[in-house]
Amino acid sequence: MNFELTEEHKMIRDAARDFAQTELLPGVIERDETQTFPSSQIKKLGNLGLLGMMVNPRYGGAGMDTISYVLAMEEISKVDASCAVVMSVNNSLVCWGLETFGTEEQKEKYLKPLASGEIIGAFCLSEPEAGSDATSQKTTAFDKGDHYLLNGTKNWITNGSSASVYIVIAQTDVQKGHKGINAFIIEKGMEGFVVGEKENKLGIRGSDTHSIMFTDVKVPKENRIGEDGFGFTFAMKTLSGGRIGIAAQALGIASGAYELALQYSKERKAFGKEISKHQAIAFKLADMATEIDAARLLCLKAAWLKDNGQNYDKAGAMAKVFASETAMKTTTEAVQVHGGYGFVKEYHVERLMRDAKITQIYEGTSEIQRIVISRSVLK
Ligand code: CAA
Repeated sequence: MNFELTEEHKMIRDAARDFAQTELLPGVIERDETQTFPSSQIKKLGNLGLLGMMVNPRYGGAGMDTISYVLAMEEISKVDASCAVVMSVNNSLVCWGLETFGTEEQKEKYLKPLASGEIIGAFCLSEPEAGSDATSQKTTAFDKGDHYLLNGTKNWITNGSSASVYIVIAQTDVQKGHKGINAFIIEKGMEGFVVGEKENKLGIRGSDTHSIMFTDVKVPKENRIGEDGFGFTFAMKTLSGGRIGIAAQALGIASGAYELALQYSKERKAFGKEISKHQAIAFKLADMATEIDAARLLCLKAAWLKDNGQNYDKAGAMAKVFASETAMKTTTEAVQVHGGYGFVKEYHVERLMRDAKITQIYEGTSEIQRIVISRSVLK
């Protein structure tokens, strides 16, 4: 067993770290406050190859492995978790599914611009009444011969208005339950496609989250992904990889807050010495460092399994539940270490604390991860 990163991995991590410091840090507080989507920053992420990291260069991607993806996600998330979720959704939920299950035509037409960052994508599974219970799809797409007719509403869609291409999960045969579900590629601008109001969120406020409504949208037959009835399996397989990305986002939020707390604790003095020299603070730092290390190892293990063709469903769920709970705990403690300064925006940790919360909710809540893990260990 070797815990050393390769030179290439270190280069990718350092490039992502430099990018985060020079391009994302300036303006991150304002973007959070005004809920401004980081358009120019996302363009630059695309130019760096970070929006289609694992896609074969033949389809416009960077051809890197999942370990590189975890390392880059951590660095981007340390500074701007909003940019990181855009990156995660495009890489894991959009590009991966298209590359793995799409037809050659779908890859040429959609994957190439998505992987190169020319456009970004969105993944539409959740509905007003189908979040954790993902098999209860109310959105329908009925076969009308040469096309499907899509109707319904999707909720909480990351990149809701900024995406150009949407992967939409819909029920095509109500009688067949989850075996009667399909996934479709929808283009923004198709007749009957409407983007709803932007959500006003607690965290990751730079990313844009919307409902999407479909009314009699005609979806060409060739836009279905995979065999008829493959949609639910497609969604589950796609989310398994997505969870590694969100685990890495949570890891980055935690390590970003920890680094700020560590630095502050060495500068701030109380009772005649740096607060880091008080055991009450030093022990907090010790716990943060330990849990972050454990979360990183879980993320890298899940990534390694994926890169080596092994099953990563359980490992990804473990990484996500542990990293997201570590993010919530660490960011809350980082605010505590900062005292009153932690409660104001200039010190960044309050934003990281707000950003952390969503990592326990999206791409499967912590409770759903525990279902996935427990089913696997009890099998
Ligand atoms: N890979 C392949 N197939 C899978 C699978 C996986 N990882 N997980 C489940 N399946 C298959 C099962 O084998 C089963 O198929 P068969 O009947 O043919 O055997 C089918 O899917 C149904 O599975 P279950 O019986 O386990 O279904 P369930 O109703 O008990 O629920 C669940 C399964 C794991 C709870 C699932 O509903 C789930 O993951 N829910 C959470 C949904 C979620 O993560 N939503 C996030 C939205 S996307 C998002 O947040 C993106 C964003 O914007 C950031």
